[in-house]
Amino acid sequence: MLSAVERKIEQFVNDLDDKEVLGLYRKLPHGKRLRAKLILKIAGNSLPAIKTAAIVEMIHAASLLHDDVIDDAYARRNKPSINALYGNKTAIMLGDILYSKGFLELNNIGPQVSKIVSNAVVQLSLGELKDVSLSKTFNIDREIYLKMIYQKTASLMEATAGAAAVLAGKNKIPYMRYGRNLGIAFQMIDDILDITMDSETLGKPALHDFEEGKTTLPYIYLYEVLDAEEKIILKSLHTKRLSKNEEMWIKVKMQEHGVIQKNYMEAKVLVEEAISLMNAQGEDALSSIAMAMIERDF
Ligand code: FPP
Ligand code: MG
Repeated sequence: MLSAVERKIEQFVNDLDDKEVLGLYRKLPHGKRLRAKLILKIAGNSLPAIKTAAIVEMIHAASLLHDDVIDDAYARRNKPSINALYGNKTAIMLGDILYSKGFLELNNIGPQVSKIVSNAVVQLSLGELKDVSLSKTFNIDREIYLKMIYQKTASLMEATAGAAAVLAGKNKIPYMRYGRNLGIAFQMIDDILDITMDSETLGKPALHDFEEGKTTLPYIYLYEVLDAEEKIILKSLHTKRLSKNEEMWIKVKMQEHGVIQKNYMEAKVLVEEAISLMNAQGEDALSSIAMAMIERDF
């Protein structure tokens, strides 16, 4: 029934009666539509569920359009990003159009769903700003980092699952916890892949996060275990364009200290907790979505 969501998004964009916007929208790769899948699995294929799924996917797409401008990313899902193809101005405005249309449509869903989703968009904007400001420093505070990824990524998944539970007349608490865990695990895996995957598969330069100033958890854990001299070396590489040797140094040290594995296990624990929460609700299908999260390779 994912195709019903695609048609609904297309219809919402068509409503705008603007050929340029429709053309730009069609250039956007769809992605995995993870949030839409969650909604349909929790709430079924009712019209409000399909509309909410379309709205959440439009908001998510908008946030990525803006994120690629903020991150100077020239690729998204292995295709050139909209900012790379048409410039920052177009990418920002397409994002604004998608999320404001999403909000307009959100008014037609119930007030509870509307509140949950709008609150998440406030959170994800706060999280993105925090990501930007943390990148200007060499952040080694794990708690600050975790709060930022909760806001930037997990808040929308938490809201997605919660909104779907509301639509289905289910208790939203375990579903929101499930979404939150999934979101945090998703971002952890995203951060790990930035280190472990080669740039061709990833569609962006390797160790791009660190170059951008982002000290994701593997860097925080590495810093904790390095000796004083090595700490200085790692710090000196922060925000630098890395040579092959420097890249290798970071990767070897991470391997030596098992920091990727440590971070991966944390993501796995979050996913397992999410799975048992859903098993307790008799929601088997939601377990496989959660598993796919930690098993994805890009
Ligand atoms: C990806 O992070 C970014 C997000 C999940 C959130 C971005 C949020 C905004 C730009 C706030 C604006 C919101 C709206 C609705 C206009 P990442 O850079 O770590 O992930 P990536 O590897 O996918 O780029
Ligand atoms: Mg980004």
